[in-house]
Amino acid sequence: MTKLDEYITTDFEPRIVGFVCNWSAYSGVEMAGINKMEYPAGINLIRLMCLGRLNIGLILKAFELGADGVMLLGCPPDDCHYECGGAKAQEVLAQAKGVLNLLGIDQNRLALIEVPLGREDLLLRQVSTFVKRIGKPKPNSRRRKAKVASPV
Ligand code: FES
Repeated sequence: MTKLDEYITTDFEPRIVGFVCNWSAYSGVEMAGINKMEYPAGINLIRLMCLGRLNIGLILKAFELGADGVMLLGCPPDDCHYECGGAKAQEVLAQAKGVLNLLGIDQNRLALIEVPLGREDLLLRQVSTFVKRIGKPKPNSRRRKAKVASPV
């Protein structure tokens, strides 16, 4: 293992984008903050009124801009304030995973997390599990194959 490998494998902090429904999930994030509960750094939250507002383009754009993982944080299907957000989120999730697969990106880098209102403990546990899974250092297989130019 070279110094570069050590640096990459020990200091890697995944960049995560979380699309968050305003109701259950965002309330959970706020309550977690009020209660001074810790959650992983490196998460950028984007608030939506409902996961039903999400489309596949937003998810793919997050990956294009360098996200290591994308979370969809919303209400359980029966709790959606707009009734169909849960079903729409499932549909978009399936479409996005299909495209990620075609692009050679691990589908597990995308997750839907449904959180009931008032369960910020569950929210943080699931978010932490997701971030830990994404953050497990995996050497980029392309890096090993790349030829290093020698100084002239
Ligand atoms: Fe939360 Fe629809 S209102 S997913």
